[in-house]
Amino acid sequence: MTMISFRHIASLLLAGMWLATCGDSSGAPSEEAGPTLTIADFPPMASGSPPGAASTTQALAHALGRGVNFGNMFDAPNEGDWDQLFFREAFLDEAHAAGFTTIRLPVRWSNHARATSPFTIDEPFFARIEHVVDEALLRELYVVLDMHHYRQLDGDALDYGEKSVDEEVLEVRFLAMWRQIAARFADKSDKLLFELYNEPHARLDDNAWNDLAARAINVVRETNPERVVVIGPTQWNNAYKLESLKLPNDPYVIVMIHNYEPFAFTHQGAEWITPALPSGVTCCDATQLAQLRAPLALAADWSARHDYPIFLGEFGAYQAADMDARATFTRAMRDAAEDLDMSWAYWELAASFGVYDPVAGAFRAELCDALLGP
Ligand code: BGC
Repeated sequence: MTMISFRHIASLLLAGMWLATCGDSSGAPSEEAGPTLTIADFPPMASGSPPGAASTTQALAHALGRGVNFGNMFDAPNEGDWDQLFFREAFLDEAHAAGFTTIRLPVRWSNHARATSPFTIDEPFFARIEHVVDEALLRELYVVLDMHHYRQLDGDALDYGEKSVDEEVLEVRFLAMWRQIAARFADKSDKLLFELYNEPHARLDDNAWNDLAARAINVVRETNPERVVVIGPTQWNNAYKLESLKLPNDPYVIVMIHNYEPFAFTHQGAEWITPALPSGVTCCDATQLAQLRAPLALAADWSARHDYPIFLGEFGAYQAADMDARATFTRAMRDAAEDLDMSWAYWELAASFGVYDPVAGAFRAELCDALLGP
């Protein structure tokens, strides 16, 4: 069973709907190495009595509006490894012109940092990401910059082309990378948000993730006292795990969920699901609509009780599904989120869920209308 199919199963079980639902990797010491970093260098922020979001955080969550994930570019082991998809500045122009107000930028930092203390991020990679962020900000887009696919941190198998690090340093390295990222981007516009980690799961259970997130936000606050930080629950940012998320006592936090329900529809034919989900599933009948809306309703209820806004950071349907059904699904998710005043980001721009066809150099009208049309 792969991790993703586990995500699905876990989500079904948690929902109680099982039956009802269908650089340098050598690790050589660096000259700048100083004392070896340990977890003690990254104390956690106090948590357990979060004050609720500041009004500025609430306003920013609302302003994120309609977003799109620039996926499969920098979250691949190396840019271009997946579908030969390289970032283009034109993508930002097109996204902006179409009416998207936010881009979420998934980044696999872990494949571009030293394996040993002080875990220095490779400069050319850092500069490349900074360039993308700057170009997006220049176009007045909001940017949610995340940490994505640090496979070992979740206990997952490495991807092809991915470097391995000593198990003992996984968390310290994660925190050391955040210290560098936060310092580098500290002077950017407040339209830049940091998202601590995409879809924590497996090895990152509730306790492990709550502890790590509290340390990571503390590191960010060393250099970015008021920058909005995005944090999601475990089980792949599953709304059903919001109750287990122990928020740090910080008012500049937006909480994120992902929603791929109905999973049998959105992930049919996806190669990374084992066993493969049968194709030919359409969308959306009343049962499927209920599946699609349930996590959002749960998140909205959690949000009202805890006074932190929710951002729907990922949803989408894989290309194996019928295009009309994908458009219907996409419109239904957008409407459901917007009815609850939730900003969102579609997964993703130009790969196998893509709202944009990078070969044709044009948006796929059905999906684009479903996301941005009247
Ligand atoms: C992962 C992608 C995957 C998508 C849908 C994302 O969180 O990063 O690799 O395609 O979920 O399964």
